[in-house]
Amino acid sequence: MFLLSFFNYIIDNPLVKQKFLNSLFSWYSFNKRDLPFRHTVNPYYIWLSEIILQQTRVAQGLPYYEKFVNLFPTIIHLAQAEEKDVLNAWQGLGYYSRARNLHFTAKFVVNELNSKFPTSYAELIKLKGIGDYTASAIASFSSKEVVPVLDGNVYRFMSRMYGIETPINTPKAIKEFKIVLNELIDHSNPDIFNQAIIEFGALHCIPKSPDCENCPFLENCYSFSKNRVKDFPVKLKKKKSVNRFLNFYLLNEEDSFYILKRESDAIWKNLYEFPNKESEELFDNEKISVSLSSGVSLRQVVGPFKHILSHQNIQAKLFICEINDRNVLQDNWIKVDSKTLENYPIHRLMEKMIHNTEKLVK
Ligand code: ADE
Repeated sequence: MFLLSFFNYIIDNPLVKQKFLNSLFSWYSFNKRDLPFRHTVNPYYIWLSEIILQQTRVAQGLPYYEKFVNLFPTIIHLAQAEEKDVLNAWQGLGYYSRARNLHFTAKFVVNELNSKFPTSYAELIKLKGIGDYTASAIASFSSKEVVPVLDGNVYRFMSRMYGIETPINTPKAIKEFKIVLNELIDHSNPDIFNQAIIEFGALHCIPKSPDCENCPFLENCYSFSKNRVKDFPVKLKKKKSVNRFLNFYLLNEEDSFYILKRESDAIWKNLYEFPNKESEELFDNEKISVSLSSGVSLRQVVGPFKHILSHQNIQAKLFICEINDRNVLQDNWIKVDSKTLENYPIHRLMEKMIHNTEKLVK
C-alpha cells in the first residue's frame, strides 16, 4: 500500500527525485563533517572505519580508526598481527567478536584473495563480519557501486520522510526500505548519496527533537505534515527478558571432565555443555557445597558469568569439583579432555566459561 503510493508519487513527479537529491547534496556540502575515511577509496580503510563505527559514535571512533591505520597500515599488517595485539588496539570498544572477525577476515583476504580487499557487494557480503550495511558502504564508497546503505540513521530519515510504518526491527523492513532507496539513489554519485543520507540522519534528522523548522525536506516530509514525527521510526516492542540462573559443574577426573548434549531446553538445543542445574536464584558458594552430591567435592568456583540472549539474561557459575565416587556419573555424560572437546559443538557461554577456566584446570 505504502510502496504503491510512493511509486506513484515518484513516477507522477519526475522532478521529485531530482529535488530530493538537490536538497540532500546541497545540505551535505554545507554540513558534512571532515572525516578521514571520507578522503579515501581504499576498501581496507573504509572497512576498518565502518566496523569501528558499528561499535561507537564518530567522535569516540576516530582515535580508534587512527590507531588501527597506524598500527596496521595495510591488510597484510593486520593479517600478520598477533590476535592479542588486535584485541589490545580494540580495547575499550567492547564486543570483541568484531575484532576477532576483523582479524579473521584480514587473514582470509591475504591468504585466499591474494591480499586484494574486494570492492563489490557480492564479494564483500561473503566475508565474515560483513553484513548488508557494511558491504553496501564499502562497495559504494570504494568503487561507486550503486547499492544503498541502510543503517539506523537512514531508517529514521526515510520512515519519517515517507511515513513508512513497517517496524524497522522486522525482517521485511530491509526489503521495503531498500525498494525506496533504490529509487532514490543517485546512479552517478552513489558514494556521495550514501554518505549524505547517513550524515543527514546522524546530524539533522536526529532521534530526539529534530530541528524540523530548518529542514530542507520540510515541504515533502510526510511525518512533519501530519505532525507525527515522534511516531517514526516504528519499532516492535521487545519481549521482556527473563532472568535465569544456571549452575554448571566441571567434574574433573585426572585430565578429563564430563559434558553432555543439551536436549530439553529451547536454547542451545543439541549443543554440548557441562552437567548443570537451573536454580531460582544465583547459588551461593556455601549452599552449593551442601547441595552437591556426596560423590564429589568442591574445589573452586568461577563466575558469575553474565550472558545475554535475545529474551533471556543468564547468570552462570561454574563449580569445579573433584569426583570421589564414580557412581555419580550418568549414562549420557561423555568423558572428554581439552583436545577431544574440540569434536563437540558448544555454546557461547561454554566458550566463555572454558576461556576463563583454562588456566585453572589441569
Ligand atoms: N557511521 C557509520 N558510517 C558512517 C559514515 N561513513 N559517516 C558517518 N557516520 C557513519
